[in-house]
Amino acid sequence: MAGHRGRFITFEGIDGCGKSTQIRHLKQRVESLSLPCWETFEPSSGPVGSMLRQCLSGRMKTDERTMAALFAADRLDHLLNDRDGILQKVQQGIHVICDRYILSNYAYQGVSAPMDWIQELNSEAGKVLQPDCHIFIDVDPEVSLERMAKARFHRDLYETRERLTEVRNCYFSLIDRFREDENILIVDGSKEEDAIAETIWEHISDLFEEG
Ligand code: TYD
Repeated sequence: MAGHRGRFITFEGIDGCGKSTQIRHLKQRVESLSLPCWETFEPSSGPVGSMLRQCLSGRMKTDERTMAALFAADRLDHLLNDRDGILQKVQQGIHVICDRYILSNYAYQGVSAPMDWIQELNSEAGKVLQPDCHIFIDVDPEVSLERMAKARFHRDLYETRERLTEVRNCYFSLIDRFREDENILIVDGSKEEDAIAETIWEHISDLFEEG
């Protein structure tokens, strides 16, 4: 029975920044220390998350404010549900790596909905669980669009140059605002895959030391 609470690490960045690859690297590192690690993502695979994926693909049309509220609702369900909720895992001593969290809601919906309101919507989730570290992988929207064009055929709602540029700028102003109080690492996503993984591990390996 693990005596310690698991760590909660979140990955952030614009679409196509390389989060999934780096999440895979980090999970392998943590597991190589024989520590339990669980990987998850938002929008989640739960009922609200599935609805959001339909909105993102264009299958279902919704107002952006409605989506902002749904993202926050999905986050609470992702944290609190008793089937595979993040909170339960962390309390069992399992380390959780999450692809996107509250900062995504601010950065993506802050472009089109009032930021104060989005913060209010996320306040409960923030009280329940704050990341031990937010890892922001920064890439130029040109690079991310090129990568996505190679990897898949269709584009989701926010995957345009204009929107991704606004979202990236929004991330930077958020990081400026929260950096004093929270552990936020910015990594250059244009570097080599292994070099990025190394930078991330150097910054957070202490969090996984026993004791
Ligand atoms: P992402 O993980 O980048 O997608 P994929 O798994 O398809 O690579 O996330 C899907 C989209 O959801 C992405 O465009 C960002 C958006 N998003 C928000 O707009 N707000 C949020 O709060 C979250 C969690 C995601």
